[in-house]
Amino acid sequence: MADYLPTAPYRGTRDFLPPEMSVRIQVFETLYEVIERYGYVRYDGPTLEPVEIYEAKSSQEIVQQQLYTLTDRGDRRLAIRPEMTPSVARIIAGNAGKLQFPVRWYSHPNCHRYERPQRGRVREHWQINVDVFGSDSPACEIEIFELIFDMMAALKASPDMWVLRVSDRVLLNAILTTMVEVTPEQIRDVSALIDRWEKYSQDQLAHDAAELGLTDKQFHRLGETLGAGENLLDELPSNVREQSLLMRVLATEARDLVTFDPRIVRGFDYYTSTVFEVFDTSPENRRSLFGGGRYANLVGLFCDAQIPGIGFGMGDVTLMDFLATHDLLPAPRSEVDVAVIPVDATLAEAARQVARELRQAGLRTSTPLEIRRLGKELARANRSGAPVTVIVGSDEWSAGTVTIRNMATGDQQQVAVSAAPSAVTAILALGG
Ligand code: HAM
Repeated sequence: MADYLPTAPYRGTRDFLPPEMSVRIQVFETLYEVIERYGYVRYDGPTLEPVEIYEAKSSQEIVQQQLYTLTDRGDRRLAIRPEMTPSVARIIAGNAGKLQFPVRWYSHPNCHRYERPQRGRVREHWQINVDVFGSDSPACEIEIFELIFDMMAALKASPDMWVLRVSDRVLLNAILTTMVEVTPEQIRDVSALIDRWEKYSQDQLAHDAAELGLTDKQFHRLGETLGAGENLLDELPSNVREQSLLMRVLATEARDLVTFDPRIVRGFDYYTSTVFEVFDTSPENRRSLFGGGRYANLVGLFCDAQIPGIGFGMGDVTLMDFLATHDLLPAPRSEVDVAVIPVDATLAEAARQVARELRQAGLRTSTPLEIRRLGKELARANRSGAPVTVIVGSDEWSAGTVTIRNMATGDQQQVAVSAAPSAVTAILALGG
């Protein structure tokens, strides 16, 4: 037997066949529309980037375990982007002189990470990125949170299906030093421990905490503090509150949109204050749906301008799992609006002429490339989901007419060729 190459895509990557692609496009276009309603404009960048932009200030896990790297023929070290934030910071820095800040940008890149494929995790995912650059105002947080609400509402997700959990690294650092007596040198490692809090067992966490030099008492206090959730806010000393941008956000109407949760840390080194993650409330999807935060200094890697950023990345895998779990996925669109079928080969050119007119009227129209029996073509049109067919028969064509068939009801009507587009459109309007 011949040794064929595998047809399966590379592990952790996916092929999207047209029905699935149709569902995805509908979901993404709904989101683009909401994002643009807030004045965000779309940009893009390259898939390949110098590896240094991740090494400087990203996540240890990504750099050490998940980066796809390569050396080009000129010995430059490159990475396939695992995320968009370092790229967009580079683009902002490189174009800062001609941009009017604050800048509101969004993109939809594919990102690669060498992960162990599992539910919610693949090696190539598509991530909608939404970021604001050039403002320190808590109005950025408020706008981003409202935008997230509108995006979820546009997907028909009701507010009980998901929750937006927020924290602030400045606040957390102050909490850790004042309430758990963590030293400034321990903060980074203790934050990484908190990031694992909901994923690891208590025994494992206690073991890791001891390795970081925390006493049993401190570990216990840490558990109590993190478990206090929103109540923690009432216990905070006033000097701690005053340092936090998030506290200013929580003093506004945005308070109702979010749940404060000190366990939200996020695994990137570049976040400097506000951090947030959206979770599905259904236990089937325990992983966070998407997340983001504020990064004051990332653009500073590329230029001396102080341009803060805040934004989030929403991945397609977790989003589609969420929509599937809650039965919110749209149906795939039909392949075409209308199929024009000649009853025999002598009418193929007539059918093409009718198809041209329908296309000019903006209708998605197909006509057979090979002439087969009418019954077969009707069955084929039915499978493609075409709501209407136009049948071009010999006598009708001679009389300047065609037959319009409503595929749902089987009703047929004869109309003048010139009236075909409006007759088809009328049937489509019934279905919509
Ligand atoms: P992140 O949390 O690493 O953040 O990724 C954001 C989202 O992308 C995740 O919540 C998830 O939906 C999706 N995602 C990430 N990795 C994978 C994967 N291996 N498989 C499937 N989905 C994945 C960032 O990347 C930040 N750069 C986001 C950001 C934008 N922060 C500020 N602006």
